[in-house]
Amino acid sequence: MISPSILSADFYNLENGIKSVEEQADLLHIDVMDGHFVPNITIGVPVVEAIKKRTSIRLDVHLMIEKPDDYLEQFINAGSDFLTVHYETCPHLNRTIATIKDLGAKAFVALNPHTPVELLRDILYLLDGVLVMSVNPGFGGQQFIHNTFERIGRLSKMRDDRGLNFLIAVDGGVNETNIAGLSQSGADIFVAGSAIFKSDDPEETIKAFRSLER
Ligand code: DX5
Ligand code: ZN
Repeated sequence: MISPSILSADFYNLENGIKSVEEQADLLHIDVMDGHFVPNITIGVPVVEAIKKRTSIRLDVHLMIEKPDDYLEQFINAGSDFLTVHYETCPHLNRTIATIKDLGAKAFVALNPHTPVELLRDILYLLDGVLVMSVNPGFGGQQFIHNTFERIGRLSKMRDDRGLNFLIAVDGGVNETNIAGLSQSGADIFVAGSAIFKSDDPEETIKAFRSLER
C-alpha cells in the first residue's frame, strides 16, 4: 500500500496536491507535529476535518505530539481512519491502543529509529500496525537510515513466528531505490512525501512504487 505524505505537498494548494494522488493512493498520510516531541509544527484537527470532508481516501494520521492521549478522540472524530501514536510518547500504551480501537480507528504504534522493535513484543498482538520510522521524525526530505531494512526484517520475523497479522509501515526517505528491499524485508505500507509530491507526475510515481512492491 502507498500512503503519500502531504507534508511535502504545497500547503497553499492542498486541494490540487491531494487530487494529484487521489486515484492511485491507498491512504493519505497526514503528519501532525507539535514543536515539542519533534522540532516542527504542522497540521492540526481542523485541517484533518477539512480534508476528510472532501476526499474518500482513508486518512492515515501520524501523531508526532506529546500527550497524544489528550487528542485521540478529536483526531478520530475529525476522520482519522488509521491513527498512529509514538511508542516514545505513551507510558500506558495498552490503554492508548484500546481507546483508539474503541473510538473506531485502526491503531498503529510508531518507533523512532533508535527504539528497538523488540520493545513492542508484549503488545504486538493488540496492534493493527507498526510504523517503523526510517528518519528521525520532524521533517520531509531527510535521508533514509539504512538499518531500517534489518529492523523491519526483525519485526516481520516476530510477526511470522507468533502468527500475528499486524501491518508494517515504513516512513521517511522512502523512494524507488529502497521500496523493493523494504517490501522483501516485510513492509506492507510505504509512506512517501518528497519522492511523490516533488516528482513531475505523482500518480505515475505511485504506480512505479507499486510495481516494486512484493
Ligand atoms: C517525517 C514524517 C514523514 C515525512 C516523510 O517526520 O513523519 O511522514 O513526511 O517525508 P519524506 O518521504 O520526504 O521523507
Ligand atoms: Zn509521517
